Amino acid sequence: MKVAVIGCGYVGLATSVVLADLGHEIIGVEIDPDKLSKLENGRCPIYEASMQEMLSGNISAGRLSFTGECNEGCRDSGVIFLTVGTPTNETWQIDLSQLEGAIDSVAESLKSRNPDAGVPVVVIKSTVPSGTMDYLHERLSARVTGPFLMASNPEFLREGQAIYDTLYPDRIVIGADDETVFKVMDELYAGLIQQDFDPEPPRPARPDNFHHPVPVVRTKPRSAEMIKYASNAFLATKISFINEIANVCEEVGADIGDVARGIGLDTRIGSQFLRAGIGFGGSCFPKDTKALHQHAGSRGYTFTLLNAVIEVNRIQRYRFLAKIRRKLDPLSGKTLGILGLAFKPGTDDIREAPAIDLMRELKRDGARLRATDPKAIANARDLFSSCEYFDDPYEVARDADAIILVTEWPEFMDLDWNKIAGLMKGNIIFDGRNSLDRDKIEALSLRLIGVGR
Ligand code: UDX
Repeated sequence: MKVAVIGCGYVGLATSVVLADLGHEIIGVEIDPDKLSKLENGRCPIYEASMQEMLSGNISAGRLSFTGECNEGCRDSGVIFLTVGTPTNETWQIDLSQLEGAIDSVAESLKSRNPDAGVPVVVIKSTVPSGTMDYLHERLSARVTGPFLMASNPEFLREGQAIYDTLYPDRIVIGADDETVFKVMDELYAGLIQQDFDPEPPRPARPDNFHHPVPVVRTKPRSAEMIKYASNAFLATKISFINEIANVCEEVGADIGDVARGIGLDTRIGSQFLRAGIGFGGSCFPKDTKALHQHAGSRGYTFTLLNAVIEVNRIQRYRFLAKIRRKLDPLSGKTLGILGLAFKPGTDDIREAPAIDLMRELKRDGARLRATDPKAIANARDLFSSCEYFDDPYEVARDADAIILVTEWPEFMDLDWNKIAGLMKGNIIFDGRNSLDRDKIEALSLRLIGVGR
């Protein structure tokens, strides 16, 4: 099937690369000239496991190409995905301007569409409030005369695992008002639903317990749009909940690691997303929780629980900071080593990353900062330059009064803590992710301070 993907960010690229890999003919449309030039030269503009290899392979095989021209993408494509950004503004309202711009470009492009290419299905994959597809349908209808169909098809991929999550989804959600759309989407996703592809590298391996056919939730567009927001809001709620339990554990002398394990073994609760720490960041949870809260409010409903989830998450990183301040008072003149800048391991993304907030505050207190990250140094340097950045994590420990682990990269778990202890001036390790081995570290007369234990 011929498919256009408008917007080559995380979602657009993962969708393009995976659908091309399953045999479809994909044309990615990107208006950012830097990003486009990288893609045209076969270079992936973001760091994401397996993506570069699969991008190169599918470009060479002639199934994947990129253009800056929307009409080139829309001329013959049976499906046109919109995967542009939907940021929130300061009042938590979603900014639909990129989607509106994309729809207007699609409208313009459909005027010169090949008449033999059939009725296009325009699919909204960007995360949007319920009712947005209907609004965009109206906007497109007002601008084109020819027929078109529309669908809402939210994605659930995690950064760092974008290809894996796209190849092995827990479910596929399709919102549409027309049977034809469900048929087209079934055909498009047949390879994923039936898993009839070889999970050989560079594709990530299929998990042993992966069930197929993959469940497909067919529903109306407003429900599909809500499924995406509700999923992210629920996962964010789990994190803020466990962080609050961790804070109470600190007061009563309980251990959050054991508590999370104890409750997670209840199959009704489940063990995932119960890792306490300094809170969630990234491009989705902070934005989507706020957007859902604002959207509910705009319809006259106050989403009290979600407000608390957002507030707990905002405070959590400052609680951690307060611990550092208390232990190292005064911070002025102290040297602090920061392990991890990305909002989570496996990505170079620093959007809403706790490390950046922490570093800003610590710098304001007069601390000297030395930081490292396996992938995110370049991005962090652009945003925050008052820090010395090192590729070598041991350099971060040199003369440090304390080390602060902010992102739990596997690379940091295997560090030689004996060597680190020898390089440090002080002896305190703050573990913002509760992921270091306490026994190993405390056996070296270092002091480990985590969250909720
Ligand atoms: C998330 C959703 O998981 C994904 O389905 C959606 O499409 C986009 O948003 P992502 O932001 O890439 O994906 O990362 P995720 O792995 O979900 O983690 C989000 C944040 O929560 C990270 O900052 C992570 O460190 C934090 N987190 C996660 C915790 O603090 N504790 C946990 O137990 C799990």
